[in-house]
Amino acid sequence: MIDLQDISVSFTSKNQEVHAVREASLSIARGEIFGIVGASGAGKSTLLRTINLLERPTRGRVVLDGRDITGLKGAALRRERGRIGMIFQHFNLMHTCTAFENVAFTLEVAGRPREEIRRRVPELLNLVGLADKAAAYPAQLSGGQKQRVGIARAIANDPQVLLCDEPTSALDLETSASILELLEQINRQLGITMVLISHEMSVIKKICTRVAVMNQGGIIEQGDVHDIFARPRQAFTRQLVEHTFDLELPQRLKETAGRDGTLLKMLFLGELAEHPILSEVTRRFGMSVNILHGRIEYINHRPIGLMIALLRDPPEEGGNRTSRRGEALEFIRSSVSHLEILHA
Ligand SMILES: Nc1ncnc2c1ncn2[C@@H]1O[C@H](COP(=O)(O)OP(=O)(O)O)[C@@H](O)[C@H]1O
Ligand SMILES: [Mg+2]
Repeated sequence: MIDLQDISVSFTSKNQEVHAVREASLSIARGEIFGIVGASGAGKSTLLRTINLLERPTRGRVVLDGRDITGLKGAALRRERGRIGMIFQHFNLMHTCTAFENVAFTLEVAGRPREEIRRRVPELLNLVGLADKAAAYPAQLSGGQKQRVGIARAIANDPQVLLCDEPTSALDLETSASILELLEQINRQLGITMVLISHEMSVIKKICTRVAVMNQGGIIEQGDVHDIFARPRQAFTRQLVEHTFDLELPQRLKETAGRDGTLLKMLFLGELAEHPILSEVTRRFGMSVNILHGRIEYINHRPIGLMIALLRDPPEEGGNRTSRRGEALEFIRSSVSHLEILHA
């Protein structure tokens, strides 16, 4: 549906060249919600804006439904843009217009007849849950309501694609979740393909099926969101993911825990997340397992479990301790999806 092929975008400002996007390639399927994640300045917005050619790539091609649109101008370009809606972090509403007028304006620009506009705008406001706010001005709306107007406006002309540039970054957690739910619902009901930018993995994982990770203008990895969470390949991605899991132990705990035994971080994928592996360790090897931190996340309805635990020798007993601990570790290693020894 959307193919970005080897896209580079450079800007020249104050005689200095900024390489905002470097040789980025993406392929987005019809009907999916595709995420782009990365730190501020990574080039996400610039890359997103090449899709409707608000930004012209310096190199590379933008292909929509098999048609190369990179070089389009004038009426042909406007026609392509009409098939692509966009929403923004700061909503970009017209402040002197009501919610109704903000949405109606898009339809007027597209040359829709007045009758149709009068019928269609209330439908759109209803779809985004703002049936009773048609006469309200942006200043009278909450952040979440403003974004709902933004969404109604963006889908007014039945676009095939919706570009979402940090649509929840200015919103509190709860409102953010309700906007993401609305986007998912629109994706399901209307089949609109969505590209969602965020600097937070926690946003991406809520509704995206696939994700591309950007760093310093380049795409450093991409794939199924569940797989990226389960096995991030790049250190930068791992940081993003761990931040979401919030599994950092306080330094003090790390040190004291390490003194008493072996500190383990375990990853459980799929049905493994539901197996009683640790009680098995206690039973078979007599080791004690002290869980310090744990969490199961469901991503695309598949579980990922992460746990930090302290493996300790049994209380005084004969026999060879180190070999027991070694056996227990081997057993754990063969039972979990991934084992990391944080401190031995
Ligand atoms: N119009 C522009 N002129 C000059 N530099 C720009 C322009 N737009 C973006 N940049 C630069 O390109 C880089 C990527 O910006 P951007 O795509 O906005 O990143 P992100 O959306 O990931 O925060 C940044 O260094 C930014 O300063
Ligand atoms: Mg941006």
